[in-house]
Amino acid sequence: ASLWLVVPAAGQGRRVGAERPKQYLPLAGRPVLARTLERLHEAFPEARLCLCLDADDAWFDPAWVPFADWRRSPGGAERAESVVNALDAIAADATDDDLVLVHDVARPCVTVADLTRLLAAIVDDPVGGLLAAPVADTMKRDDGAGRVRATESREGLWHAFTPQGFRLGLLRRALGEAQARGVAVTDEASAMEAAGLSPRLVSGRRDNLKITHPEDLALAERVLSAQQRTVHT
Ligand code: CTP
Ligand code: MG
Repeated sequence: ASLWLVVPAAGQGRRVGAERPKQYLPLAGRPVLARTLERLHEAFPEARLCLCLDADDAWFDPAWVPFADWRRSPGGAERAESVVNALDAIAADATDDDLVLVHDVARPCVTVADLTRLLAAIVDDPVGGLLAAPVADTMKRDDGAGRVRATESREGLWHAFTPQGFRLGLLRRALGEAQARGVAVTDEASAMEAAGLSPRLVSGRRDNLKITHPEDLALAERVLSAQQRTVHT
């Protein structure tokens, strides 16, 4: 069975609000997209890649793709739609039990060690799973007017990261059902949950941040340089 990587990279980066989508902004001298693909390639050099790209993307350069076997697929209106398009684009060359790891292009700080550990944890799992970390802060619920209504227990709460890895057949069916039922899914795991399945939580590093706001670029640069000093643990 093949290992597939699906990298959604068709977003506009509105919250970062730069002159180009955030995946093309420089991160320690290289575009975010190039850095993310480099980490994935370092962990899984033989994997097959499908990159979700906006049809009107004027920034993409294929020279940033280190994989020998790769293709692009059209972006959708939402992230989930971009992923569905990518799964459609690989289906003809894949089998239902091929493993697919979906990883946000906006998460360049994922480490090779976490990628390897995730794969090992899910390769024989009937459902699949995701990198995640337990919530550390005290969680407050607001009253809709900027004041605290209640403190929520953080017991058993996790931050969901990517990659999220599932069998192609299961994931396609789950995303298709979610789409058909109008269930909004913000990640692959939530589509699996909507189908009644329980993805495995695989503890990952907290510095696997998603570049979302302008200040996250500087943060990600510091994370990368700290990781380079301490090896990928
Ligand atoms: N993404 C995608 N297709 C979409 C929307 C998002 O492939 N229609 C991708 C983004 O490129 C990103 C990941 O999904 O790698 C996570 O999305 P997000 O962090 O929300 O990125 P953007 O949608 O680009 O940012 P924003 O929501 O601020 O516009
Ligand atoms: Mg978005």
